[in-house]
Amino acid sequence: MVSTVYAVTLVCMGLIVAVFYFVIVNSKKVEADYPSITKKWYGVRSKWFLFLLTLGIAVSFVSTNPFPIPDQKKDYPENDHQVVKVGAYQWYWTIAPNTVDAGKPVAFLVTGEDVNHGFGIYDENLNLVGQTQAMPGYTNKFLHTFDKPGKYKILCLEYCGLAHHAMITELTVK
Ligand code: CUA
Repeated sequence: MVSTVYAVTLVCMGLIVAVFYFVIVNSKKVEADYPSITKKWYGVRSKWFLFLLTLGIAVSFVSTNPFPIPDQKKDYPENDHQVVKVGAYQWYWTIAPNTVDAGKPVAFLVTGEDVNHGFGIYDENLNLVGQTQAMPGYTNKFLHTFDKPGKYKILCLEYCGLAHHAMITELTVK
């Protein structure tokens, strides 16, 4: 019994030595193969990079054309737009006027009167129609043309203190 165990152990050790020997001998061959493999996959990598770069530029172009944020330096005059002045306060909105017409562009001029707020317009199903920041010292311009008449909700989108959740008002589109 002991001699059988001894023999099995010896065979196993021999196998391990053989595996090590095989790996060591063959690793030199593999090293010799590396340059061609490296060269091939560097080629693939640069093609992949070019592909991702092109894809990124294409997706950016398609998804920002037309650019979703209006030119902030431009004036949006009363004769082309319905101009709505929005003031955000802790914790209420001033919206003048609070009624606009559907089908005609609206220019919202939005500012924060104390801290940062978020001006968000929601339709009757509470889907977000559009939004911009209401920041003290800035007037952010946001353009939108309403397709559907109805009562739209204005909610604050940025935490601005205790009664942030209560900053709700309504905009009527007729
Ligand atoms: Cu104003 Cu949150």
